Amino acid sequence: MMKIGFIGAGKIAKALAAKLVRAGYQVILTNSRGPETLQGLVEELGVNARAGSIAEVSAADVIVLSVRWSQIGQALPQLPPLTGKIVIDITNPILDDGTLTDLRGRPSSRVIAALLPGAKVVKTLNHLYVKWIDADPAVENGRRVAFLSGDDPDANKTVSAILENIGFGPVNLGTLDAGGVIQQAGFPLGGLNLVRFPA
Ligand SMILES: NC(=O)c1ccc[n+]([C@@H]2O[C@H](COP(=O)([O-])OP(=O)(O)OC[C@H]3O[C@@H](n4cnc5c(N)ncnc54)[C@H](OP(=O)(O)O)[C@@H]3O)[C@@H](O)[C@H]2O)c1
Repeated sequence: MMKIGFIGAGKIAKALAAKLVRAGYQVILTNSRGPETLQGLVEELGVNARAGSIAEVSAADVIVLSVRWSQIGQALPQLPPLTGKIVIDITNPILDDGTLTDLRGRPSSRVIAALLPGAKVVKTLNHLYVKWIDADPAVENGRRVAFLSGDDPDANKTVSAILENIGFGPVNLGTLDAGGVIQQAGFPLGGLNLVRFPA
């Protein structure tokens, strides 16, 4: 089964990792303080979860970037080259005081992609608050919508399949320029909790 690594093991990582573990994925998590500080979390997540080094997480099949915007400058330069890897960008450009960074229309995932040369960056789940990521994505006979966008169609397909496997209703918005901005915090789809019902 696919191995999914998390750079950042906070609230969002915990909610998403729990769903991945339940669906049978192996997850490996890292934070800024070392794997030993994540023992409680991995025990809670179960046998498919473990804590690891930055290098181990970076070697996973798919990597989830789940640090705060203010932590990106520290977290990304320490990574080995991620050329060809799928990186799920779940971040929003929100500062620690809760205000939005003004990127002058530039998709925040482009800022991330520029720091990860060659990585296939797919933005998803950032538009949902953690309580909605944590909740059961099955709502009546529908599925909670997870928007995604990225410039590599195959990477978008892979991420769509992962989202589907953990119960969400993925909606592919296309490239980062097309979809990345509108699903960001502060833009029309940011903070929206929608459900897709069968036709
Ligand atoms: N919370 C939400 O409702 C929500 C919703 C959608 C998207 N998001 C986005 O998701 C991202 C994470 O949010 P969160 O609420 O999960 O934040 P959080 O609880 O503060 O977690 C941040 C995690 O990043 C780790 N970290 C910090 N610096 C690091 C480094 N240099 N290397 C590796 N790990 C590092 C922290 O570890 P230490 O504790 O060891 O420093 C912590 O585990 C943010 O960009 C946020 O905008 C959040």
